[in-house]
Amino acid sequence: MLEKIQETAEFIRNKVPKVPEMAIILGTGLGELVNEIDINQEISYNEIPNFPVSTVEGHKGKLIFGKLGGKDVIAMQGRFHYYEGYNMKEVTFPIRVFQALAIKYLFVSNAAGGMNNSFDIGDIMLIEDHINLFPEHPLRGKNEERLGVRFPDMSNAYDKDLQLLAMKIAKDNDIKLQRGVYIGTQGPTFETPAEYEYFRRIGGDAVGMSTVPEVIVANHAKIKVMAFSIITDIGIIGKIVEVSHEEVQEAAKIAQPKMAFIIKEAIKQLN
Ligand code: HPA
Repeated sequence: MLEKIQETAEFIRNKVPKVPEMAIILGTGLGELVNEIDINQEISYNEIPNFPVSTVEGHKGKLIFGKLGGKDVIAMQGRFHYYEGYNMKEVTFPIRVFQALAIKYLFVSNAAGGMNNSFDIGDIMLIEDHINLFPEHPLRGKNEERLGVRFPDMSNAYDKDLQLLAMKIAKDNDIKLQRGVYIGTQGPTFETPAEYEYFRRIGGDAVGMSTVPEVIVANHAKIKVMAFSIITDIGIIGKIVEVSHEEVQEAAKIAQPKMAFIIKEAIKQLN
């Protein structure tokens, strides 16, 4: 695996004049931040050696290089979801490439269902912690010590200093920012009412089908993470309505500019 990671990192290094320290993963329907990036290079996932082979969803996927908030960034437009059939090593391969490129900070976004009674559709939730309910672990198997330790600590999975920074930016700019625990599940079904209720009871504020694998590998790789969920539907008994992918994307649109602002401002303020 190391060789493949190195090969892909080398390919990218040869394509871009300066390798950034910041990477961004844009979740489903959350591509608007790209409009804020002063783009100088785009590479389709199909062209990148060792990148997982695209499914329909991954097909439009690309890496975007440019400037955001005055800093060089790489943005992943489109991610690899476990429910698409990728295994966890494939889902998290881009994070290993970021590690090889010496990325320091990872910004992650996703769409999620909200189980917290104070959440509304279109809210942004700063992820403070997660509960991993995926059936496969990205670090399962022989540990490669050059990539990280066998038993990684997860007590600061969502870096506390980055959380404080996000909260300060939101406060200073009158942006409503919810906070909570993200539950990562395999999907692709949305939850039954009983499942939402169960996820609430075990401590979740929002539930989605991504992010947790990438965040685990980022922690193994000592990359600091700031992550946000956009609440696109409500999973509270009495408030649950039928939900579709289109509605999720529509709701994601509402909150995008505010989330993009926080990420851009955080990038500006980080050294
Ligand atoms: N559940 C799981 N994933 C989701 C949801 C949800 O309610 N909304 C957006 N992604």
